[in-house]
Amino acid sequence: MIFQEEITKWYHNNKRALPWRDTTDPYVIWLSEIILQQTRVEQGLPYFNKFLEHFPTVHDFANAPETLILKLWQGLGYYSRGRNMHATAQQVIKGHNGVFPGNYADLIQLKGVGEYTAAAISSFSTGEQQAVLDGNVFRVLSRFYGISIPINSTAGKKEFTALARSLVIGQNPAVYNQAIMEFGALQCKPKSPDCAICPVQTGCWAYAHQQVQDLPVKLKT
Ligand code: ADE
Repeated sequence: MIFQEEITKWYHNNKRALPWRDTTDPYVIWLSEIILQQTRVEQGLPYFNKFLEHFPTVHDFANAPETLILKLWQGLGYYSRGRNMHATAQQVIKGHNGVFPGNYADLIQLKGVGEYTAAAISSFSTGEQQAVLDGNVFRVLSRFYGISIPINSTAGKKEFTALARSLVIGQNPAVYNQAIMEFGALQCKPKSPDCAICPVQTGCWAYAHQQVQDLPVKLKT
């Protein structure tokens, strides 16, 4: 069984229809990814629609009064995200001639954009060969490959990053990245995943060793 092929096939049959998946506009994808940090999809969805309606382009966002952005943000929490976004939009106007960058190297320089977000935006918008690594991906990979190094240790991050990168090679990075995150969110869930209907069950290390509930390993900090 080829892990990436099964995950991609599963995604095509099970994915949720989410509006940010129908665009390659890096600004729109950025909007969705920042909103979805520390926020569940169901909660973030109406905010994403509201923000896009008010600010269809990065120019609209940059020119908006901060009070309006924070007012629209109300209920989402972590207000620093809203303030950071305003600064980021202005950074794009000044530093990138108002063209929201779609490549990893430029994205990682933006305020509030870390490794995960830069990989997500670049792979989804321009198809750059970048692997996303979020909580979902850590969980899926640790279980399937039987990796018990703590995901929040330096060695763990290194190992998972290398594995994630090796898996995206030869795949459509936009599709595959969405697929493995969706698989983690809907199928390989933290608690009581339904392994009986899992398409990669026969290759899963954790399933074979009855360690699904024990992975991933996370150090208490
Ligand atoms: N959470 C963060 N990014 C996401 C995405 N692109 N699709 C679904 N859930 C997400």
